[in-house]
Amino acid sequence: TEGSAAARPTLTRTYGELPTVQGEGMVALRAWVDEIAALTRPARIHWVDGSRAENDMLLREMVDEGKLIKLNPEWRPGSYLARSHPSDVARTEARTFIASEREEDAGPTNNWAAPEEIRATITPLFAGSMKGRTMYVVPFSMGPVGGPLSHIGVQVTDSAYAVTSIGIMTRVGTDVLREIAGGAHWVKTVHSVGAPLQPGQADVAWPCNDEKYIVHFPDTLEVWSYGSGYGGNAILAKKCFALRIASVIGRDEGWLAEHMLLIRVIDPAGRAYHIAAAFPSACGKTNLAMLRPTIPGWRVETLGDDIAWLRPGEDGRLWAINPEAGFFGVAPGTGQSTNVTAVETLWGNTIFTNVALRPDGDVWWEGLTDEPPAQLTDWEGKPWTPDSGRPAAHPNSRFTVAAAQCPQIADDWDAPQGVPIDAILFGGRRATNVPLVVEATDWTHGVFMGSNISSEKTAAQEGTVGELRRDPFAMLPFCGYNMADYFGHWLKVGQQLRFDRAPRVFQVNWFRKGTDGRFLWPGFGDNSRVIDWIIRRIEGEVGAVESPIGRLPHSADLDLDGIEVSQADLDELFAVDAQLWLREADLTEEFYRTFDGRVPAPLWAELAALRYRLQRA
Ligand code: GTP
Ligand code: MN
Ligand code: MN
Repeated sequence: TEGSAAARPTLTRTYGELPTVQGEGMVALRAWVDEIAALTRPARIHWVDGSRAENDMLLREMVDEGKLIKLNPEWRPGSYLARSHPSDVARTEARTFIASEREEDAGPTNNWAAPEEIRATITPLFAGSMKGRTMYVVPFSMGPVGGPLSHIGVQVTDSAYAVTSIGIMTRVGTDVLREIAGGAHWVKTVHSVGAPLQPGQADVAWPCNDEKYIVHFPDTLEVWSYGSGYGGNAILAKKCFALRIASVIGRDEGWLAEHMLLIRVIDPAGRAYHIAAAFPSACGKTNLAMLRPTIPGWRVETLGDDIAWLRPGEDGRLWAINPEAGFFGVAPGTGQSTNVTAVETLWGNTIFTNVALRPDGDVWWEGLTDEPPAQLTDWEGKPWTPDSGRPAAHPNSRFTVAAAQCPQIADDWDAPQGVPIDAILFGGRRATNVPLVVEATDWTHGVFMGSNISSEKTAAQEGTVGELRRDPFAMLPFCGYNMADYFGHWLKVGQQLRFDRAPRVFQVNWFRKGTDGRFLWPGFGDNSRVIDWIIRRIEGEVGAVESPIGRLPHSADLDLDGIEVSQADLDELFAVDAQLWLREADLTEEFYRTFDGRVPAPLWAELAALRYRLQRA
């Protein structure tokens, strides 16, 4: 069962047994692996079994090869530091393509490429791209293996760093192969750092290529990523599969793949509620996911910090899982005063990338402690002192850690059926205009709100609408199809929900600033006060003030016990300036017009109704 000898490259298998799992589905998987190997010509193939021993071996090898630095086990047991090439430090949106058959299916917010053309471009790049390297075959499940909302993928990669990261971020192993053998559908993902090794050529610490392509084929459910070893470009299970490809599968199957955190909130009476929240990158998802409420008696349990898959259940509620198994979080700004839960999660068994190294073999980044250590090695491996005048950790440096290590992770965080959602929050970074919290009047209004999410690229000038990056549903870089169709899909999912059981939708903004440039709201743990109001709204325990943009809290209904927020600040936090909102409405119209008539009529109706209410205000 080794396949046809003629088509196969010469392979020396040094480790990783060919899986003994049998079944019809394995034939197609093996044929595909052979096909990729024939193209990329690796020196070895390693079928990853997801075992502890295998993981330890990969980590040891990378340390021996100078690709990872083992941290001092006294401070950070089982943990490692990777330093990327200085040019390979983030997702590369400009090199990310949606190669749908028809350009209009990718829509104006994506880079489109004709599938045949881009295949003709990238196939020669992948030809021989794994020479001298090991090709790892990584079967993974997004969501618990075999769960009703779960989906399977296989990543082939020539990066051991990617393998160990996928091992933390997803469920990897032979039980996934059993699902494939039994006929489960799986998504094909191919990754090469694009740095073949000639015989005798020494490897570098972070192999990558100046030329990068992250290409999604939504019609055949494939991802091909070339040239980058970093995060979302290399862990294809995450943004590429669980958001871009999954959003397409969700469109066709009637569910939603979203850039959302997931939490359970437990009130003093012991009642549990589930909240999903979409904020753009670096706008506080991981923070809210690990919230420690400052109101006595409240608790938050973490379910997920970045991605949620949501599906209408037979009971008319919206059920959600976190398809991931780990956190790939931004390190800078994560500290005792902002996210103590994350700091505690990182006690060990963590892979850090591009943070600074302390002389004692532990790690550091801006914001971990108030005062920096006197002496560090920065993320590029250069000596650093507080006088160096540059950050010690890269601003997009990250930690990769298992979700199970979070001290407030919910016991049932990996329940296959997920949790029923009570509220959906949309947010962004808005210094002006957007109130601390506003409730949508119904699902359609909520979808309208989601379609209008934007976040300041830079601090906006006070009192005026600044230059905004529109990031609808926080999905701008992650929606695998035409965003206008995606808005329509949200409306359709709403129709599958029972009107009295659909999640209530809210817009939140922790980032509103006063004219003096200071944040008006203390944020972080005190965001529990906003959640308290949201839950009392759901329970019908408090009323609301009707405004042109939605329902606002009566200020007496916000629990502000124990914090100092002046009446003037409160007024400003909830101020709705009709003139500025009319300008926002103009921007919305401009944005909707870029979709060539594909934006659903109910959203145009929402825009017209908003203008009408604002003009009368
Ligand atoms: P990705 O993981 O890239 O998708 O982003 P994320 O949404 O998880 O962002 P993250 O939680 O890492 O964002 C952190 C940034 O938001 C830091 O700059 C925090 O200081 C800031 N932040 C989070 N919560 C609050 C808050 O309540 N108030 C204020 N002012 N800043 C906050
Ligand atoms: Mn994210
Ligand atoms: Mn995050």
